[in-house]
Amino acid sequence: MNLPRVIGHRGAAGHAPENTLTSIRTAAALGAQCVEFDVHLSADKIPVLIHDDTLDRTTDGKGPVDQTSLAALQSLDAGSWFTKEFTDEPLPTLEETIKLLAALGLGANVEIKPSAGREIETGHIVGRMLREQWPSALPPPLISSFKPESLAAAREVAPHLERALLIGELISDWARIMRELGCTALHCGHKRLSASDAEQVRRAEFPLRIYTVNERAKAEQLFSWGAESIISDYPDRIL
Ligand code: G3P
Ligand code: MG
Repeated sequence: MNLPRVIGHRGAAGHAPENTLTSIRTAAALGAQCVEFDVHLSADKIPVLIHDDTLDRTTDGKGPVDQTSLAALQSLDAGSWFTKEFTDEPLPTLEETIKLLAALGLGANVEIKPSAGREIETGHIVGRMLREQWPSALPPPLISSFKPESLAAAREVAPHLERALLIGELISDWARIMRELGCTALHCGHKRLSASDAEQVRRAEFPLRIYTVNERAKAEQLFSWGAESIISDYPDRIL
């Protein structure tokens, strides 16, 4: 699977509240062809878009996402923490997001971001939803996760969907973990990545995609090291 060179991070998180439909629309308006977003489960096991395990940073609610019902999540304001302009921006479900992606013709990297202890359940539920509801007109979704258990669970229910292993830095056994999970790409943080790390991934013939890169010069350096894609809060800066 080849992804576009620039992937909007949490939509376009530099311009709009992360992991909201407005953030995804903004990424598309800025010219991105693909967005990354984070998926948790609500207390009633509905996949929703939010990064943190708790509601506190990015909504007007409090407490753990996985102990809050969908109805309660849908009553929250997930926008005004960013700026007042986004007041009452809802916290979207994965289902609503898939419909928006279809309307925009936008591809996606779906990051499975389970709350602690819900790694397998989240992988199963998200994998099943992507298998059953992904629009055939869109490029297939790419699943990624920092959690090997979630990747393995997604593979059980949707073996045909490609998976990428997420890591903060190049750990020594990355290639073994990828092989065991049947991953086809590596998504790595940029802060500790060296040219020789990138070369190691290139030699193993895995696509390397790098997050979260918001400066054009840094993106150019990473492309020169062989990165296939850059995941950015400001896709417009890199495109
Ligand atoms: O998927 C790339 C990136 O989003 C991983 O880190 O914490 O921003 O979800 P994080
Ligand atoms: Mg993410």
